[in-house]
Amino acid sequence: MNPSGKNVLIVGATSAIARALADRLAAGGAALVLAGRDAEETERIARDLRIRHDEAELHEARFEATNHEVHEALLDDAERELGGLDGVIWAVGMLGEQERDERDAAHARQVIDVNFTGAASLLGRAANRLEAQRSGFIAALSSVAGDRGRASNYVYGSAKSGLSAFVEGLRGRLHDAGVRVLTVKPGFVDTKMTFGDPDTFLVASPERVADAVMTGLRRERNELYVPWFWRWIMLGIRLTPEAIFKRLRI
Ligand SMILES: NC(=O)c1ccc[n+]([C@@H]2O[C@H](COP(=O)([O-])OP(=O)(O)OC[C@H]3O[C@@H](n4cnc5c(N)ncnc54)[C@H](OP(=O)(O)O)[C@@H]3O)[C@@H](O)[C@H]2O)c1
Repeated sequence: MNPSGKNVLIVGATSAIARALADRLAAGGAALVLAGRDAEETERIARDLRIRHDEAELHEARFEATNHEVHEALLDDAERELGGLDGVIWAVGMLGEQERDERDAAHARQVIDVNFTGAASLLGRAANRLEAQRSGFIAALSSVAGDRGRASNYVYGSAKSGLSAFVEGLRGRLHDAGVRVLTVKPGFVDTKMTFGDPDTFLVASPERVADAVMTGLRRERNELYVPWFWRWIMLGIRLTPEAIFKRLRI
């Protein structure tokens, strides 16, 4: 599946990873709708892309993950503006603050609503459309954090775990319809999400993640760990016996 020349909706367009992806897609002749909750920043990104890729077709839209009522309308608008929809990329994410979220259920709910419920609403609706037209792709940025519940970030991690399972289910459901579904599991990435966090290591650039996503789409991969070595790190973490794992402060 070659994403070049396709009509693609990117939600969470102000994410550094989404921005690098939009740059690559626009360079390949894709027509894009950039959807973000920060209208000014979304507009700035679109303006920058128009300068870099003067032929590129770019539209902007507002998107709030927790406002499910507007998700169907966003897909309608994207389809109308682009003259059809071939792909949807989910790049929304909210890390939250574990220590606050474990004490404050309202904050924990916000993290789960943005990362899981919002994704399920938007991607579920997108899946129905792509299944009906029997073509297209979905790429969802999940996280290695979803591979095992860790004491240090299980609120965000559990929401990403739910997202990974949801997207895996969509992949199975949409396979016979010829719709490709890619789960992306980055490790730490140098974006505003991790800015100033002293506990990050093996940090990748957003450009590296975007390159991996483009390759993953072209090769019709199911699931990507980015960089690749996170697959083996997470395998080690998943295989650690619970009796030991629960004592680790990771
Ligand atoms: N950075 C990492 O280490 C890392 C690791 C693994 C996975 N990821 C995932 O990669 C994806 C991209 O994140 P990033 O690293 O590029 O971080 P980022 O720059 O902070 O991007 C996060 C995006 O989510 C948007 N967002 C947050 N809450 C939202 C809401 N309620 N409604 C709509 N949009 C909302 C942000 O919008 P604003 O710009 O308006 O805040 C931004 O566009 C996310 O799914 C993230 O979970 C990141």
